[in-house]
Amino acid sequence: MRLSFLLLATVAAMPMLAKDILVNTPNTTLLLKAEEGKPLHVSYYGERISSVSQVYDAFSLWEEAYPAFGAGCQEITALDVKHADGNMSTELVYRSDAQQAEANATVYTVTLKDKIYDFEVDVCYRAYNNCDVIETWTVIRNNEKKPIVLQKYASGFMPFRQGDAWVTHQHGSWGAESQITEEPLKAGVFEVHDMNGAKNAVINRPNIMVSLDGKPRENEGRVVGAVLCWSGNFRMTIDTEGKRVHRLVAGINEAHSQYELKKGETFTTPELAFAYSNEGMGGVSRSYHRWARLNNKVHNGQQLRKILLNSWEGVYLNVSQDGMEKMMDGVKSLGGELFVMDDGWFGDKYQRSVDDCALGDWVTDTRKLPKGVPALEKAAASRGLKWGIWIEPEMTNTKSELYEKHPDWIVCHPARTPITGRGGTQLILDMSNPKVQDFVFGVVDNIMKETPNTYYIKWDANFEIHNFGSHYLSADNQSHLYVDYHLGLKKTLERIRAKYPDLVIQCCASGGGRVNYGLMPYFEEFWVSDNTDAQQRLFIQWGTSMFFPSCAMAQHVSASPNHQTGRVIPLKFRFDVAMTGRLGMEMKPSDLNEKETEFARKAVQTYKDIRPIIQQGNLYRILSPYDKTGFCSEMFITDDKSEAVFFAYKFEQYVDLFRPRFHFAGLDPNATYELTELNRQGGADHWEGKRITGTFLMKQGIEIALNGQFASKVIKLKKI
Ligand code: DGJ
Repeated sequence: MRLSFLLLATVAAMPMLAKDILVNTPNTTLLLKAEEGKPLHVSYYGERISSVSQVYDAFSLWEEAYPAFGAGCQEITALDVKHADGNMSTELVYRSDAQQAEANATVYTVTLKDKIYDFEVDVCYRAYNNCDVIETWTVIRNNEKKPIVLQKYASGFMPFRQGDAWVTHQHGSWGAESQITEEPLKAGVFEVHDMNGAKNAVINRPNIMVSLDGKPRENEGRVVGAVLCWSGNFRMTIDTEGKRVHRLVAGINEAHSQYELKKGETFTTPELAFAYSNEGMGGVSRSYHRWARLNNKVHNGQQLRKILLNSWEGVYLNVSQDGMEKMMDGVKSLGGELFVMDDGWFGDKYQRSVDDCALGDWVTDTRKLPKGVPALEKAAASRGLKWGIWIEPEMTNTKSELYEKHPDWIVCHPARTPITGRGGTQLILDMSNPKVQDFVFGVVDNIMKETPNTYYIKWDANFEIHNFGSHYLSADNQSHLYVDYHLGLKKTLERIRAKYPDLVIQCCASGGGRVNYGLMPYFEEFWVSDNTDAQQRLFIQWGTSMFFPSCAMAQHVSASPNHQTGRVIPLKFRFDVAMTGRLGMEMKPSDLNEKETEFARKAVQTYKDIRPIIQQGNLYRILSPYDKTGFCSEMFITDDKSEAVFFAYKFEQYVDLFRPRFHFAGLDPNATYELTELNRQGGADHWEGKRITGTFLMKQGIEIALNGQFASKVIKLKKI
């Protein structure tokens, strides 16, 4: 009796032993250390470990998992709060933790509390069991007596040991999106950020990779990826101080976005998705592709995408009943499955014949389309084609009935005269306003009511936030605009998806301006770029594929000379480049000559045959166009490695240009594969129909005859 009383007393008096929280995916581990009254620590992130002692015996990172400003605050922090009494310091310590199983993942929630204030943060991690991705985010709770202000509220933090670490990021502009930049992480600060307000992927993108073993390689070396699932302004910073670690903090860009939380309110930060691989950048890409496809990070990610013709580069704004029907005939005769009418079909008081009016007036322009959109929907159906239509629902023009009726719906401070965009008249609607959210929902809903068989919507966005300010938000909450715009957009998209889960929607923003995982859970695909020049697409698509799966990448064969660059490129090369994503066309099929029509018809059929490998297979990028050899190659392979499609391109021409041997990747080394050329023009290469082992193909490679500029080959591999 006495003894057990003593024992109990000892247990109660003992502090909680430090607890290891193992956040595991099939091949990776994030190790956290929790101890009551102490901050939460991250000890390790990397290849999956079999025992915790392995980490502690070898080394340990020992960095705070969600550092807050105010105590030990010399280093970069993820959270910065002004408490109700004006105190700017926060000290978060472990309180409790919980685990919750989901269908494809386990969620670990570690609750931290300020040592003295009624202020809590749940640091959450979602570890997937079907891919090697771990998402982290936080739920910030104000239980204090009065409002508090979040001055910085990043999604997460990750330390890396210093060494020869390099960062790979994407930078671009309209028509030249997603160009890859690689640089070593040196002392000081590396940062990518965005302040566009509406389209956060035009210039910098909220995705980076950190290669830990020297200069980034495609298929070797330890690499960590970080992807922020947010459509608004972002900031990703790597701070390199001292000699021990690089510290990554990523989240919503706090600039001009102080966020007030009233008593009892919470703020949930967007997910930051980490992926680790020791198979180089390609390994990280494949993890993100899998994560997106299998977990709805791209809407309906496992559904095969249809081959379409989009009217934009064919007729631009000059849509007509007859013109649309002719294009439908064209795409049908090539074997296409879907026709999409782009910009130019709407406007009553103001006619959308020039791009300076009518956005917001989503009624058919009966001068151009006297029988209305339903007649076009029927015309498509009668040809066995699916029907799609273009909208730009978050926008208006000063020349529009919508703006005349609701001048206070635009993003702009009431005291200011708005700066305008495209056509000298374009304005952006204020998605923080619930009335605007209803209107935008109504644009889609009305289309679906009028033409219920609409299969596809192209959702465009061609302006950004230029005039900071909101008619809707209170004077005290103007600084919520950059965030509330995107929370409002998300809410609207959730409403659309709840009602129309099967509608295919393309995310377009002057091309690839909105290629981000904040929006992709609501969209099947995105328009990769307004630049459809096949040579330049090789670079843009290569960069985009670093983080996004091919099923989501809309890649269209367009006219030659190309409308953006004037470059003349043979149709075969244009098809071979477009076929690595969701194939489509962006031209008048009637402009193709007989030979080209025949080639296109066969290529469309070929694409249908290999579509599951391309859209659902695993991508191995091999020869990068950025390496300046003038060549590029990549391949897709099925999960069971039984079928693959290899693409080789030559996009430069010098006299006596060195021609590499083309190596394959990801094959079963012990298997034998039969090689067949697809989209073939001209004679057969010596390997045609031959059977070669996976080991030989990967280690020795093959010679591919690529003669002249814009030569390309597509090779199907089948395991025997
Ligand atoms: C920009 C898009 O990127 C184009 O594809 C096209 O839809 C135009 N807008 C239409 O205005």
